[in-house]
Amino acid sequence: MDGTPVREGAEAPFYLPQGDECTLFAAAHANALPLLLKGPTGCGKTRLVAHMAARLGRPLYTVACHDDLSAADLIGRYLLKGGETVWADGPLTRAVREGAICYLDEVVEARKDVTVVLHPLTDDRRILPIDRTGEELAAAPGFMLVASYNPGYQNILKTLKPSTRQRFLSIEIDFPKPGQETEIVVAESGLDPARAAALVRLAGKLRALRGQDLEEGVSTRLVVYAATLIARGMPLERAVLAAMIEPLTDDEDVRRGLLDLVAAVFG
Ligand SMILES: Nc1ncnc2c1ncn2[C@@H]1O[C@H](COP(=O)(O)OP(=O)(O)OP(=O)(O)O)[C@@H](O)[C@H]1O
Ligand SMILES: [Mg+2]
Repeated sequence: MDGTPVREGAEAPFYLPQGDECTLFAAAHANALPLLLKGPTGCGKTRLVAHMAARLGRPLYTVACHDDLSAADLIGRYLLKGGETVWADGPLTRAVREGAICYLDEVVEARKDVTVVLHPLTDDRRILPIDRTGEELAAAPGFMLVASYNPGYQNILKTLKPSTRQRFLSIEIDFPKPGQETEIVVAESGLDPARAAALVRLAGKLRALRGQDLEEGVSTRLVVYAATLIARGMPLERAVLAAMIEPLTDDEDVRRGLLDLVAAVFG
């Protein structure tokens, strides 16, 4: 599992703040505190981290967590190279050495033994013990651990232990308000504001079905997809079906209900 380094000084990707999340992120970074972002899929968590890493001028290492991820995938391992064994840092170790931001996406998917590795890094010790090499690395200035998860997927087996959770500052991020979401969709797709606003209205109606007919509301990501297709010339109904309806459900009755909402918004 490799992290993705982002060059320092790169122009910050566009991120429209929903509230004070950028300020809180910067304060967490300035005070060497870890941060947990909670929110539904496609609401802007990854974009916020990329934006802030660029603004703060720190390299970014992103790790997508899953239940096969081992502590060695994060920390590093000995590799055989031409008959010799050489140590190779994992993305977390690299971030700790370089004072980078390490972003653990979907951290609840990680096994408990992996999250425990984070404990000495996420309290005031700020150290990463590397058992294999006997090193104990102190985090370089600028190092920050950011984790995210989607509470909607949460089940009894997949929650963070309180001892892990209570090491992070937390921000809840939901879908942007309609005016903000329209601005995001226009900026990301180039679609005109009137049609972008209509797509956002439809998204609002679809999200009202969250927890009833739909497990998750339609994401800002999907609204941007629909807008991008329409801006490139695809007929509106086709784009909306492919980007905002089909990805939400496989149930024929639910799908018909969603199409009624489309008709209500676009008539
Ligand atoms: N506040 C925002 N500013 C700019 N773009 C945004 C914002 N919120 C969402 N987007 C758009 O939505 C897309 C999806 O956002 P992002 O990938 O950050 O979601 P996410 O919360 O990380 O989702 P997941 O949990 O599925 O990884 C982005 O590529 C971007 O186009
Ligand atoms: Mg993401």
